[in-house]
Amino acid sequence: MKILIIGSGGREHAIAKALSKSPHLPTLFVAPGNAGTAQIAQNVPIKDADCAALLTFAKDESIDLTIVGPEGPLVLGLVDLFEAEGLKIVGPNKVAAQLEGSKDWAKSKMKAYGIPTARYETFTHYDTCIAYISKRNTYPIVVKADGLAAGKGVTVAQTFKEAEEALRDCFLDDKFSGAGLQVVIEDFLKGQEASMFAFTDGKTILPMMPAQDHKAVFDGDRGPNTGGMGAYAPAPLVTKKIQEAVLERVFKPLIAGFRSEGILYKGIVYAGLMIDEGELSIVEFNARFGDPETQIVLPLLKTDLVDIFFALSEERLDTVSLDWHDHSAVCVVMASGGYPGSYSKGAHISGTYAAEALEGVQVVLAGVQEKEGDLLTSGGRVLAVVGQSESLKDAIDKAYTGVSKIFFDGAYNRTDIGAKGLV
Ligand code: AMP
Ligand code: GLY
Repeated sequence: MKILIIGSGGREHAIAKALSKSPHLPTLFVAPGNAGTAQIAQNVPIKDADCAALLTFAKDESIDLTIVGPEGPLVLGLVDLFEAEGLKIVGPNKVAAQLEGSKDWAKSKMKAYGIPTARYETFTHYDTCIAYISKRNTYPIVVKADGLAAGKGVTVAQTFKEAEEALRDCFLDDKFSGAGLQVVIEDFLKGQEASMFAFTDGKTILPMMPAQDHKAVFDGDRGPNTGGMGAYAPAPLVTKKIQEAVLERVFKPLIAGFRSEGILYKGIVYAGLMIDEGELSIVEFNARFGDPETQIVLPLLKTDLVDIFFALSEERLDTVSLDWHDHSAVCVVMASGGYPGSYSKGAHISGTYAAEALEGVQVVLAGVQEKEGDLLTSGGRVLAVVGQSESLKDAIDKAYTGVSKIFFDGAYNRTDIGAKGLV
């Protein structure tokens, strides 16, 4: 059995690790992959946006199943291309992937299907935005570039001036290469954020363990947002009652609404939740697994991931149920100093094997390249150390013991990952 994973981050290394544990013993390929995936799979030097080359590779290699990690290829229509050739692939098609590819499209579906979310308006001109925020005159207010902007298209503006600057970036300076020429302006939601993913074949929905990411770069959720500095699961903030509400009031209406419009959503759906005094709202949807949440959700999954993915792609997810370890998992991201601003690359990394030798500790590589047997930093988020144990406290200790074994010049990590789950 041959499985191809598309992407090159920590998420894709985590997916490869989970698949490599399957009793089906799949042969794994990752395009383009990183130094971590190279340890357990064959890396294929094709970029994730090169849809034509990915299709040719999958056909030539007789790949049985392809898993799409990042949003880019989904929005480009990679799934449509594969399915037109009769190839099995996990991820929503181009129409369904607009759930992440267009904030306006996603918000319009939430509104149409009655999914709880913040009030919003959509604009295509700078001047009408300025008129709207002046009239609305309430802060913070949230300015969102409509299209994909590598996680940088959202500004929570505290003042008129900040909102104006965000709108300038979108419309006047075209900072997001066209993705900001349509803008969603949304009311601010207060509360705590969490994420919940689900597998769906367009009919059956299997929700996963709730997780909490830590987006801000500094301890105490201070400083600029990053791709994610660490995560833990399960997140006690997302009580059984809220999990039930996410299924009944979010996932079910979403997938049923899509079906009523002839849209088949197959793949992973990611719900970004805001929880305020037990009340649930959706901040955003993504059309894929989260990074770094995947690094901690998949190790908690007992059910074989190969079986889940095949059932999903063959639209028989009703034959599967998810079993979970009664554990907590925590991952701490080690980043290059300066990230999310500018940082240097090429630092020598040591200690990953010592960390992995610890019981209940795994290392998931992201921005790492191998050169003549050495591991070198090649990105902002370099790697994540995952600790798993019966208690959250112990999982946190394990992750940080792992972190203490790993060294590279300029290494930076938050020291409070998971702490909010302890209170
Ligand atoms: P997104 O790219 O939509 O995930 O937004 C990035 C981050 O911006 C989210 O994780 C939130 O922290 C914040 N955010 C987005 N929308 C809102 C909102 N309506 N209210 C408060 N915070 C928001
Ligand atoms: N953890 C946030 C994301 O994957 O978008």
